[in-house]
Amino acid sequence: MSNKIVLLPGDGIGAEVIYAAKDVLEAISKKFNKSFEFSSFDIGGIAIDNHGTPLPDETVTACKEADAVLLGAVGGPKWDNNPSELRPERGLLGIRKALDLYANLRPVKGFEKLLHASPLRQDIIQGSDLLIVRELTGGLYFGEPSERRDNGNSVVDTLSYTRKEIERIIDKAFQSAQLRNKHLTSVDKANVLESSKLWREIVEEKKAQYPDVTVEHVLVDAAAMKLITNPTDFDVIVTENMFGDILSDEASVLTGSLGMLPSASLAEDGVGLYEPAHGSAPDIAGKGIANPIAMILSAAMMLRYSFDMNDEAQAIEDSVENVLNQGYHTADLKSNDGKLVNTTEMTELIVKAILN
Ligand code: NAD
Ligand code: IPM
Ligand code: MN
Repeated sequence: MSNKIVLLPGDGIGAEVIYAAKDVLEAISKKFNKSFEFSSFDIGGIAIDNHGTPLPDETVTACKEADAVLLGAVGGPKWDNNPSELRPERGLLGIRKALDLYANLRPVKGFEKLLHASPLRQDIIQGSDLLIVRELTGGLYFGEPSERRDNGNSVVDTLSYTRKEIERIIDKAFQSAQLRNKHLTSVDKANVLESSKLWREIVEEKKAQYPDVTVEHVLVDAAAMKLITNPTDFDVIVTENMFGDILSDEASVLTGSLGMLPSASLAEDGVGLYEPAHGSAPDIAGKGIANPIAMILSAAMMLRYSFDMNDEAQAIEDSVENVLNQGYHTADLKSNDGKLVNTTEMTELIVKAILN
Protein backbone atom coordinates (compact mmCIF):
# COMPACT_ATOMS: atom_id res chain seq x y z
CA MET A 1 0.00 0.00 0.00
CA SER A 2 1.30 3.41 -0.93
CA ASN A 3 1.02 6.28 1.55
CA LYS A 4 -0.09 9.46 -0.18
CA ILE A 5 1.79 12.49 1.12
CA VAL A 6 0.96 16.01 -0.03
CA LEU A 7 3.86 18.46 0.16
CA LEU A 8 3.08 22.14 0.68
CA PRO A 9 6.52 23.78 0.37
CA GLY A 10 5.28 27.37 0.68
CA ASP A 11 7.74 30.26 0.78
CA GLY A 12 11.30 31.13 1.77
CA ILE A 13 13.10 28.37 3.64
CA GLY A 14 9.83 26.39 3.72
CA ALA A 15 10.52 25.37 0.16
CA GLU A 16 14.15 24.54 1.03
CA VAL A 17 13.57 22.35 4.07
CA ILE A 18 10.61 20.40 2.70
CA TYR A 19 12.84 18.67 0.16
CA ALA A 20 15.15 17.68 3.00
CA ALA A 21 12.19 15.90 4.63
CA LYS A 22 11.32 14.25 1.32
CA ASP A 23 14.90 12.94 0.91
CA VAL A 24 14.79 11.54 4.42
CA LEU A 25 11.44 9.84 3.77
CA GLU A 26 12.84 8.33 0.58
CA ALA A 27 15.71 6.91 2.62
CA ILE A 28 13.17 5.46 5.08
CA SER A 29 11.25 3.94 2.21
CA LYS A 30 14.42 2.22 0.95
CA LYS A 31 15.57 1.06 4.35
CA PHE A 32 12.21 -0.23 5.59
CA ASN A 33 10.65 -1.16 2.25
CA LYS A 34 7.78 1.31 2.55
CA SER A 35 6.09 3.13 -0.27
CA PHE A 36 5.41 6.86 -0.21
CA GLU A 37 3.76 8.74 -3.05
CA PHE A 38 4.45 12.48 -3.11
CA SER A 39 2.60 15.32 -4.78
CA SER A 40 3.19 19.03 -4.37
CA PHE A 41 0.75 21.97 -4.17
CA ASP A 42 0.97 25.72 -3.70
CA ILE A 43 0.11 27.56 -0.49
CA GLY A 44 0.96 31.03 0.85
CA GLY A 45 2.85 33.64 -1.13
CA ILE A 46 3.69 31.38 -4.05
CA ALA A 47 -0.01 30.52 -4.36
CA ILE A 48 -0.88 34.23 -4.42
CA ASP A 49 1.64 34.69 -7.24
CA ASN A 50 0.51 31.63 -9.23
CA HIS A 51 -3.24 31.53 -8.52
CA GLY A 52 -4.23 34.89 -7.01
CA THR A 53 -5.17 33.30 -3.68
CA PRO A 54 -3.09 32.01 -0.72
CA LEU A 55 -5.15 28.80 -0.59
CA PRO A 56 -6.29 27.46 -3.97
CA ASP A 57 -9.23 25.00 -3.94
CA GLU A 58 -7.08 22.31 -5.56
CA THR A 59 -4.67 22.52 -2.61
CA VAL A 60 -7.49 21.96 -0.13
CA THR A 61 -8.91 19.08 -2.16
CA ALA A 62 -5.51 17.40 -2.47
CA CYS A 63 -4.93 17.68 1.29
CA LYS A 64 -8.33 16.19 2.08
CA GLU A 65 -7.60 13.23 -0.19
CA ALA A 66 -4.09 12.66 1.19
CA ASP A 67 -2.98 10.30 3.96
CA ALA A 68 -0.84 13.07 5.46
CA VAL A 69 0.37 16.58 4.65
CA LEU A 70 3.82 18.12 5.15
CA LEU A 71 4.03 21.91 5.18
CA GLY A 72 7.20 24.03 4.96
CA ALA A 73 6.35 27.63 5.88
CA VAL A 74 4.58 30.61 4.37
CA GLY A 75 5.13 34.34 4.24
CA GLY A 76 7.69 36.92 3.29
CA PRO A 77 8.28 40.64 2.80
CA LYS A 78 7.00 40.50 -0.77
CA TRP A 79 3.44 40.02 0.49
CA ASP A 80 3.62 41.90 3.82
CA ASN A 81 1.69 44.91 2.55
CA ASN A 82 -1.07 42.90 0.89
CA PRO A 83 -4.63 43.27 2.17
CA SER A 84 -5.47 40.70 4.89
CA GLU A 85 -7.24 38.25 2.60
CA LEU A 86 -4.25 38.20 0.26
CA ARG A 87 -1.62 37.50 2.89
CA PRO A 88 0.24 34.16 2.79
CA GLU A 89 -0.60 33.53 6.47
CA ARG A 90 -4.29 33.40 5.49
CA GLY A 91 -3.48 30.28 3.49
CA LEU A 92 -2.00 28.59 6.53
CA LEU A 93 -4.91 29.54 8.79
CA GLY A 94 -7.29 28.46 6.03
CA ILE A 95 -5.83 24.97 5.64
CA ARG A 96 -5.78 24.47 9.43
CA LYS A 97 -9.47 25.39 9.55
CA ALA A 98 -10.44 23.41 6.43
CA LEU A 99 -8.88 20.24 7.88
CA ASP A 100 -10.13 21.04 11.41
CA LEU A 101 -6.58 20.75 12.80
CA TYR A 102 -7.50 21.81 16.31
CA ALA A 103 -4.55 20.23 18.13
CA ASN A 104 -1.02 21.41 17.51
CA LEU A 105 1.52 19.26 19.34
CA ARG A 106 4.92 20.89 19.73
CA PRO A 107 7.45 18.69 21.53
CA VAL A 108 10.42 20.56 22.99
CA LYS A 109 13.25 18.21 23.81
CA GLY A 110 16.83 19.31 23.68
CA PHE A 111 19.50 17.01 22.34
CA GLU A 112 22.31 16.42 24.85
CA LYS A 113 24.92 17.51 22.30
CA LEU A 114 23.22 20.89 21.86
CA LEU A 115 23.08 21.88 25.53
CA HIS A 116 25.79 24.47 24.92
CA ALA A 117 23.92 25.89 21.91
CA SER A 118 21.27 27.50 24.12
CA PRO A 119 21.93 30.89 25.68
CA LEU A 120 20.37 29.44 28.85
CA ARG A 121 22.56 27.83 31.52
CA GLN A 122 23.10 24.12 31.01
CA ASP A 123 22.09 23.27 34.58
CA ILE A 124 18.74 24.94 33.93
CA ILE A 125 17.89 23.20 30.66
CA GLN A 126 19.45 19.80 31.35
CA GLY A 127 16.69 17.17 31.39
CA SER A 128 13.97 19.44 30.04
CA ASP A 129 11.44 17.55 27.93
CA LEU A 130 8.03 19.07 27.44
CA LEU A 131 5.11 19.06 25.04
CA ILE A 132 3.12 22.17 24.19
CA VAL A 133 -0.46 21.33 23.20
CA ARG A 134 -1.64 24.44 21.41
CA GLU A 135 -5.28 25.00 20.42
CA LEU A 136 -5.03 25.79 16.69
CA THR A 137 -8.41 26.62 15.16
CA GLY A 138 -9.99 29.08 17.58
CA GLY A 139 -9.29 32.14 19.69
CA LEU A 140 -8.03 35.48 18.43
CA TYR A 141 -6.82 34.05 15.12
CA PHE A 142 -10.35 33.22 14.02
CA GLY A 143 -12.48 35.69 16.00
CA GLU A 144 -15.42 37.42 14.31
CA PRO A 145 -15.58 40.33 14.03
CA SER A 146 -12.02 41.29 13.28
CA GLU A 147 -12.10 44.66 11.56
CA ARG A 148 -11.25 48.34 11.33
CA ARG A 149 -13.94 50.80 12.29
CA ASP A 150 -14.36 54.55 12.45
CA ASN A 151 -12.59 55.17 9.11
CA GLY A 152 -9.74 52.97 10.24
CA ASN A 153 -9.25 54.76 13.52
CA SER A 154 -10.49 52.02 15.78
CA VAL A 155 -10.13 48.29 15.55
CA VAL A 156 -11.63 45.14 16.99
CA ASP A 157 -10.27 41.60 17.28
CA THR A 158 -12.38 38.96 19.00
CA LEU A 159 -11.22 36.12 21.24
CA SER A 160 -13.94 33.54 21.12
CA TYR A 161 -14.20 29.86 22.10
CA THR A 162 -17.05 27.40 22.46
CA ARG A 163 -17.19 24.83 25.26
CA LYS A 164 -16.75 22.06 22.71
CA GLU A 165 -13.61 23.65 21.26
CA ILE A 166 -12.05 23.92 24.69
CA GLU A 167 -13.10 20.44 25.79
CA ARG A 168 -11.51 18.65 22.86
CA ILE A 169 -8.11 20.32 23.27
CA ILE A 170 -8.14 19.75 27.03
CA ASP A 171 -8.96 16.08 26.43
CA LYS A 172 -6.13 15.84 23.93
CA ALA A 173 -3.75 17.36 26.48
CA PHE A 174 -4.81 15.02 29.29
CA GLN A 175 -4.44 12.04 26.96
CA SER A 176 -0.99 13.27 25.89
CA ALA A 177 0.00 13.62 29.55
CA GLN A 178 -1.13 10.05 30.25
CA LEU A 179 1.34 8.86 27.62
CA ARG A 180 4.16 10.93 29.15
CA ASN A 181 5.00 11.99 32.71
CA LYS A 182 1.38 12.58 33.76
CA HIS A 183 1.63 16.23 34.68
CA LEU A 184 -0.50 18.87 32.96
CA THR A 185 0.04 22.63 33.18
CA SER A 186 -2.87 24.64 31.86
CA VAL A 187 -1.77 28.13 30.89
CA ASP A 188 -4.31 30.96 30.78
CA LYS A 189 -5.02 34.53 31.81
CA ALA A 190 -7.97 33.73 34.09
CA ASN A 191 -7.25 36.79 36.23
CA VAL A 192 -8.44 38.95 33.31
CA LEU A 193 -10.05 37.09 30.40
CA GLU A 194 -13.53 35.55 30.37
CA SER A 195 -12.36 32.98 27.82
CA SER A 196 -9.65 31.88 30.27
CA LYS A 197 -12.18 31.53 33.08
CA LEU A 198 -14.22 29.06 31.04
CA TRP A 199 -10.98 27.34 30.00
CA ARG A 200 -9.98 26.88 33.66
CA GLU A 201 -13.46 25.65 34.64
CA ILE A 202 -13.33 23.00 31.94
CA VAL A 203 -9.86 21.82 33.03
CA GLU A 204 -11.22 21.49 36.58
CA GLU A 205 -14.28 19.53 35.35
CA LYS A 206 -12.18 17.22 33.19
CA LYS A 207 -9.55 16.29 35.71
CA ALA A 208 -11.80 13.73 37.42
CA GLN A 209 -11.72 11.73 34.17
CA TYR A 210 -7.91 11.56 34.29
CA PRO A 211 -7.10 10.80 37.95
CA ASP A 212 -3.58 9.66 37.11
CA VAL A 213 -2.64 13.13 35.81
CA THR A 214 -1.67 15.95 38.19
CA VAL A 215 -2.90 19.38 37.12
CA GLU A 216 -1.81 22.93 37.79
CA HIS A 217 -2.92 26.28 36.43
CA VAL A 218 -0.32 28.92 35.63
CA LEU A 219 -1.00 32.43 34.33
CA VAL A 220 0.60 33.03 30.97
CA ASP A 221 2.97 35.79 32.05
CA ALA A 222 4.39 33.67 34.85
CA ALA A 223 4.49 30.66 32.51
CA ALA A 224 6.69 32.62 30.10
CA MET A 225 9.13 33.25 32.93
CA LYS A 226 9.05 29.70 34.33
CA LEU A 227 9.63 28.14 30.92
CA ILE A 228 13.16 29.49 30.87
CA THR A 229 13.93 29.48 34.60
CA ASN A 230 12.43 26.09 35.56
CA PRO A 231 11.76 24.22 32.30
CA THR A 232 12.07 20.81 33.96
CA ASP A 233 8.94 21.56 36.04
CA PHE A 234 6.85 21.08 32.88
CA ASP A 235 5.59 17.95 31.18
CA VAL A 236 2.53 18.85 29.07
CA ILE A 237 1.42 22.46 28.65
CA VAL A 238 -2.03 23.14 27.23
CA THR A 239 -3.02 26.60 26.11
CA GLU A 240 -5.06 28.65 23.68
CA ASN A 241 -3.94 29.49 20.19
CA MET A 242 -1.99 32.72 20.57
CA PHE A 243 -0.46 31.95 23.98
CA GLY A 244 0.74 28.67 22.46
CA ASP A 245 2.23 30.44 19.47
CA ILE A 246 4.27 32.76 21.64
CA LEU A 247 5.32 30.21 24.26
CA SER A 248 6.50 27.70 21.68
CA ASP A 249 8.95 30.09 20.02
CA GLU A 250 10.18 30.95 23.51
CA ALA A 251 10.51 27.26 24.41
CA SER A 252 12.60 26.63 21.29
CA VAL A 253 15.40 28.48 23.07
CA LEU A 254 15.76 25.40 25.28
CA THR A 255 16.78 23.37 22.22
CA GLY A 256 19.28 25.88 20.87
CA SER A 257 17.29 27.04 17.85
CA LEU A 258 13.81 27.60 16.47
CA GLY A 259 15.09 25.47 13.59
CA MET A 260 14.89 22.40 15.88
CA LEU A 261 11.16 22.53 16.75
CA PRO A 262 8.78 20.17 14.90
CA SER A 263 5.02 19.98 15.21
CA ALA A 264 1.97 17.91 14.38
CA SER A 265 -1.39 19.55 13.66
CA LEU A 266 -4.12 16.99 14.21
CA ALA A 267 -7.87 16.67 13.63
CA GLU A 268 -10.35 14.59 15.64
CA ASP A 269 -10.28 12.22 12.76
CA GLY A 270 -9.03 13.04 9.32
CA VAL A 271 -5.74 13.89 7.77
CA GLY A 272 -2.85 15.26 9.90
CA LEU A 273 -0.57 18.10 8.84
CA TYR A 274 3.04 18.25 9.98
CA GLU A 275 4.93 21.55 10.05
CA PRO A 276 8.01 23.00 11.71
CA ALA A 277 7.22 25.69 14.30
CA HIS A 278 9.41 28.19 12.48
CA GLY A 279 8.51 30.48 9.61
CA SER A 280 9.91 31.23 6.18
CA ALA A 281 12.97 33.04 7.62
CA PRO A 282 13.33 35.75 4.96
CA ASP A 283 16.66 36.79 6.49
CA ILE A 284 18.32 33.53 5.38
CA ALA A 285 16.01 32.39 2.56
CA GLY A 286 17.77 31.49 -0.68
CA LYS A 287 21.14 30.97 0.99
CA GLY A 288 20.77 27.21 1.44
CA ILE A 289 21.78 27.39 5.10
CA ALA A 290 18.46 26.75 6.88
CA ASN A 291 18.38 24.08 9.54
CA PRO A 292 16.23 21.24 8.10
CA ILE A 293 15.92 19.36 11.41
CA ALA A 294 12.58 20.87 12.55
CA MET A 295 11.09 19.81 9.21
CA ILE A 296 12.74 16.38 9.29
CA LEU A 297 11.52 15.75 12.84
CA SER A 298 8.04 16.84 11.72
CA ALA A 299 8.21 14.09 9.09
CA ALA A 300 9.10 11.66 11.89
CA MET A 301 5.98 12.81 13.77
CA MET A 302 3.99 12.15 10.61
CA LEU A 303 5.26 8.56 10.45
CA ARG A 304 4.33 8.05 14.10
CA TYR A 305 0.90 9.72 14.20
CA SER A 306 -0.49 9.23 10.70
CA PHE A 307 1.15 5.97 9.62
CA ASP A 308 1.81 4.17 12.90
CA MET A 309 5.41 3.63 11.76
CA ASN A 310 7.11 3.87 15.12
CA ASP A 311 10.37 2.13 14.21
CA GLU A 312 10.72 4.29 11.12
CA ALA A 313 10.07 7.49 13.11
CA GLN A 314 12.60 6.37 15.70
CA ALA A 315 15.16 5.72 12.95
CA ILE A 316 14.84 9.34 11.82
CA GLU A 317 15.16 10.70 15.36
CA ASP A 318 18.14 8.46 16.13
CA SER A 319 19.85 9.49 12.90
CA VAL A 320 19.39 13.19 13.68
CA GLU A 321 20.90 12.60 17.10
CA ASN A 322 23.74 10.57 15.64
CA VAL A 323 24.69 13.36 13.21
CA LEU A 324 24.48 16.02 15.94
CA ASN A 325 26.63 13.82 18.19
CA GLN A 326 29.32 13.82 15.50
CA GLY A 327 29.44 17.60 15.95
CA TYR A 328 27.74 18.65 12.72
CA HIS A 329 25.48 21.70 12.95
CA THR A 330 23.87 24.36 10.77
CA ALA A 331 24.63 28.07 11.21
CA ASP A 332 21.74 28.75 13.58
CA LEU A 333 23.29 26.44 16.21
CA LYS A 334 26.25 27.67 18.18
CA SER A 335 28.93 25.05 18.33
CA ASN A 336 32.52 24.62 19.41
CA ASP A 337 33.15 21.75 17.04
CA GLY A 338 33.51 23.75 13.87
CA LYS A 339 31.64 21.23 11.70
CA LEU A 340 29.41 23.82 10.09
CA VAL A 341 27.22 22.40 7.31
CA ASN A 342 24.51 23.75 5.02
CA THR A 343 20.97 22.44 4.48
CA THR A 344 21.94 19.92 1.79
CA GLU A 345 24.95 18.62 3.70
CA MET A 346 22.97 18.20 6.93
CA THR A 347 20.26 16.33 5.01
CA GLU A 348 22.79 14.05 3.31
CA LEU A 349 24.39 13.24 6.66
CA ILE A 350 21.00 12.28 8.13
CA VAL A 351 20.10 10.23 5.05
CA LYS A 352 23.45 8.40 5.29
CA ALA A 353 22.89 7.70 8.97
CA ILE A 354 19.46 6.20 8.17
CA LEU A 355 20.80 3.97 5.40
CA ASN A 356 23.72 2.68 7.48
P1 NAD B 1 10.81 32.92 11.42
O1 NAD B 1 10.48 31.74 12.24
O2 NAD B 1 10.69 32.81 9.96
O3 NAD B 1 12.31 33.38 11.77
C1 NAD B 1 12.72 33.85 13.06
C2 NAD B 1 14.26 33.75 13.15
O4 NAD B 1 14.64 32.37 13.29
C3 NAD B 1 15.00 34.27 11.93
O5 NAD B 1 16.18 34.89 12.33
C4 NAD B 1 15.30 33.01 11.14
O6 NAD B 1 16.44 33.09 10.32
C5 NAD B 1 15.50 31.97 12.24
N1 NAD B 1 15.08 30.63 11.79
C6 NAD B 1 13.82 30.16 11.71
N2 NAD B 1 13.82 28.91 11.23
C7 NAD B 1 15.10 28.60 10.99
C8 NAD B 1 15.73 27.42 10.47
N3 NAD B 1 15.04 26.32 10.12
N4 NAD B 1 17.08 27.43 10.34
C9 NAD B 1 17.79 28.51 10.71
N5 NAD B 1 17.25 29.65 11.21
C10 NAD B 1 15.91 29.68 11.35
O7 NAD B 1 9.89 34.12 11.97
P2 NAD B 1 9.71 35.63 11.41
O8 NAD B 1 10.99 36.13 10.86
O9 NAD B 1 9.05 36.33 12.49
O10 NAD B 1 8.66 35.46 10.22
C11 NAD B 1 9.02 35.41 8.85
C12 NAD B 1 7.81 35.06 8.01
O11 NAD B 1 7.40 33.72 8.31
C13 NAD B 1 6.57 35.92 8.28
O12 NAD B 1 5.97 36.17 7.04
C14 NAD B 1 5.70 35.06 9.16
O13 NAD B 1 4.33 35.34 9.02
C15 NAD B 1 6.01 33.70 8.61
N6 NAD B 1 5.80 32.59 9.56
C16 NAD B 1 5.26 31.46 9.02
C17 NAD B 1 5.12 30.34 9.81
C18 NAD B 1 4.54 29.12 9.19
O14 NAD B 1 4.35 29.08 7.99
N7 NAD B 1 4.26 28.08 9.95
C19 NAD B 1 5.54 30.35 11.14
C20 NAD B 1 6.10 31.53 11.65
C21 NAD B 1 6.25 32.65 10.84
C1 IPM C 1 3.10 29.34 13.56
C2 IPM C 1 3.05 30.68 12.87
C3 IPM C 1 1.63 31.01 12.42
C4 IPM C 1 0.79 31.05 13.69
C5 IPM C 1 1.45 32.30 11.61
C6 IPM C 1 2.35 32.34 10.42
C7 IPM C 1 0.03 32.48 11.19
O1 IPM C 1 3.58 31.68 13.68
O2 IPM C 1 2.75 28.32 12.94
O3 IPM C 1 3.53 29.27 14.72
O4 IPM C 1 0.79 32.08 14.39
O5 IPM C 1 0.12 30.06 13.97
MN1 MN D 1 4.53 30.93 15.47
